[in-house]
This record gives sequence, C-alpha cells and structure tokens, in this order.
Amino acid sequence: MTLPTAVPADTSPISAWESGDDLDPVWRSIVVESRARANDIHLPISFAFAERLCDAYPEADSLVVRVAILLHDTGWARVDESRILSEGFSGDWRQADVRYEHERHGCMIAREVLPPLGYDPAFIARVTDIIDGHDTRPDSRSLEDSLVRDADRLWRFTPAGIALASGWFRLTPAEYCRRLRSEIIPELLTEAAVQMADAELSRSESLLKTGQLS
Ligand SMILES: [Fe+2]
Ligand SMILES: [Fe+2]
Repeated sequence: MTLPTAVPADTSPISAWESGDDLDPVWRSIVVESRARANDIHLPISFAFAERLCDAYPEADSLVVRVAILLHDTGWARVDESRILSEGFSGDWRQADVRYEHERHGCMIAREVLPPLGYDPAFIARVTDIIDGHDTRPDSRSLEDSLVRDADRLWRFTPAGIALASGWFRLTPAEYCRRLRSEIIPELLTEAAVQMADAELSRSESLLKTGQLS
C-alpha cells in the first residue's frame, strides 16, 4: 500500500522541471564527487523528482529531502571504481560491501561539505540518517526518507536513466524497461511516485521503441 496524497502529482516530462538555485553552493561543493558513477546525471534528475515529490507531500521537510537526495550517492567517489561494476551490479548487489561503503562515505561527505555552508549539526544528522542505509536498509523511517528513496528510483524511468542503468546491468533497454515495470514500480513507497514512474516509463518506452526493439 503506497502513501496516498490529496495533491495531484505532476507527471509531465521531468526534463521540463526548473529547480530553484538556493542549493547551488551545495552542488558546487560536490563537483569532484559528481564525476563518479554518472552522479552528474543521476543526482540532478533524482533531485528534480524529489522536488516534485515534496510538492505532492507538502507536510515533508523539503530542505532535508532536497539536501539528502543531492548528496546521497556522493560516496561512490570514494569507492574503488572497478568494484562498483564488479560487485555493485551483480550477484546480491543490494547487499554488496561497496553498497555499505558508499553510504558511509556519503555520510562523511555530508559532514564535510555542509558545516562550512552554515548547516547545523541537527540538520546534518537528519540528512545522514537518510543517506545511511538508503540502499541497504529495507525499511523507510520517515516521510522524508520515503521521498528520497522514491526520487532515487524515479530517475531510472527517464531515457537517460534507462541508457545508463541498462548498460550497468547488461540488459537491453527493452529488458530494462520490463524490469522497471515488474520490480521497481512495486518498490515505490508513495502514490505520487508511482504515477510519475508510470507516466515517465510510458513516454520512454514509446520514444525508445522498446516494443519494436524487443
Ligand atoms: Fe546509493
Ligand atoms: Fe542513488
């Protein structure tokens, strides 16, 4: 059962989304970390979905959600690049050691970059509570945690997400789209995210001609 909302979800193409610029100093502080594992594509697209989800769930603390999604995967930059693909995407990839390592490093990066930008320890703790375990902990602990988890998945439904992730998992785009529908949509925690995923995936499948290229 997904979390319902009375606010209509914005399911228009995410490429049309325009974010505010209040977190530009945080973006500028993670340029190096953005170069790992396509974070410079994943983080901005998931950030855009996170902002839409916050609009659909106005009771959430949107600053916590936005900063947590912005930083959540920066820890990949401190994990050995070759192990990301060898351990992070095969076998029991959700429980691979590199997954725990990127979460721990992500928390450390949050504790490095946020204090000089004026964020206080209580706020930073709320952010790191979400980053820690975002891939490896099975349960969400708060509304903010749920919105980050859903935004983390939603980028995959875009053509850019399908292009990158299908290669990581060694699947064709059509095979990957089928996996998104059968495995990832059921993992989503909020009703708004399900609506966004469904709309974005239908557009991507049509654009990429996955019906014909199967
Ligand atoms: Fe992650
Ligand atoms: Fe992620």
